[in-house]
Amino acid sequence: MRIILMALVVLVTGSFAGDFDYIGSSKCKACHKKAADGEQYQKWEAGPHAGAYETLKSEESAKIAKGKGLKVPAYEAPECLKCHTTGFGEGGFEVKGADFWSAVTEKGEPTKEVKFMTSLAGVGCESCHGAGSEYKSKKTMEGVFSGSIDAASVGLLAPDEKLCKTCHNAESPTYKVFVFAEKSKKIAHPYPAGKR
Ligand code: HEC
Ligand code: HEC
Ligand code: HEC
Ligand code: HEC
Repeated sequence: MRIILMALVVLVTGSFAGDFDYIGSSKCKACHKKAADGEQYQKWEAGPHAGAYETLKSEESAKIAKGKGLKVPAYEAPECLKCHTTGFGEGGFEVKGADFWSAVTEKGEPTKEVKFMTSLAGVGCESCHGAGSEYKSKKTMEGVFSGSIDAASVGLLAPDEKLCKTCHNAESPTYKVFVFAEKSKKIAHPYPAGKR
């Protein structure tokens, strides 16, 4: 019954949450790095979330994975990737082998695919703001900002405490009590006063 209802919703509205595709944090950088606008990209990059995938390559992670009896390294285990990458299992980050990661262009640079996957590694902008394919254009972003476009209709989420707790919960092997008011200060990247 539920499946039939969902199919009906898709048929009637022609849309579905899955319509929004992940584009990677590097795409947000182009427009969200200006100091005068609050340099959100740099703040995120220097904060705890950007390196969350790299953390899965640490010795501590290897120990945790071993303790849990995982058959693959932490950085390839869905049990860890679901909270340490962007959009895992939802069309975002995917497990890739060594061949994929070592692929380079003729000039010796990482391929486009590698760069894209790299920009989904870690807890990126879209882990909190939603997959960006429909809201990333300047026109749409300005519409959301001015209020002429409903943020949710283009997939832009308002990140709240509930969202944080989809990852900050006791399922995390290293769980620390999560007090929203305190923790959100540590990752804050607001506009300068007066912009809104
Ligand atoms: C997709 C999962 C995910 C979401 C959503 C998420 N976090 Fe995190 N967060 C992590 C992971 C993973 C780490 C640890 C990263 C590391 O150490 O490499 C972390 C670390 C942190 C840290 C530093 C460690 C600590 O506990 O002090 C803070 C602060 C933090 N997050 C705040 C937030 C806030 C506030 C929100 C919601 C607005 C949020 N996070 C949403 C996964 C998430
Ligand atoms: C082409 C440029 C561009 C890109 C790419 C872009 N943005 Fe924006 N964004 C803007 C503009 C312009 C505004 C309106 C505010 C302003 O003028 O700075 C905005 C506003 C926002 C807001 C505030 C919306 C509101 O009013 O509540 C959020 C959140 C946001 N962007 C997140 C993102 C994320 C996450 C990405 C990447 C997935 C992204 N943006 C990519 C240009 C862009
Ligand atoms: C439910 C989400 C979630 C899952 C699943 C998860 N983590 Fe994390 N991880 C977090 C969060 C959130 C943090 C930030 C600190 C905290 O509250 O645990 C974190 C932090 C870490 C840290 C840094 C520890 C520290 O002291 O800050 C390591 C290492 C780590 N995780 C390894 C792993 C490994 C290995 C797995 C898989 C076996 C895993 N995590 C699965 C959410 C998760
Ligand atoms: C861990 C979750 C998290 C991540 C990751 C994250 N943000 Fe945010 N972002 C928030 C929260 C929470 C707010 C405040 C929302 C509010 O005030 O309603 C916010 C607000 C914003 C705003 C509006 C600022 C304002 O003053 O209204 C912009 C723009 C923005 N984020 C862009 C980005 C970009 C770009 C990235 C990646 C480089 C990013 N965010 C990564 C959670 C996150």
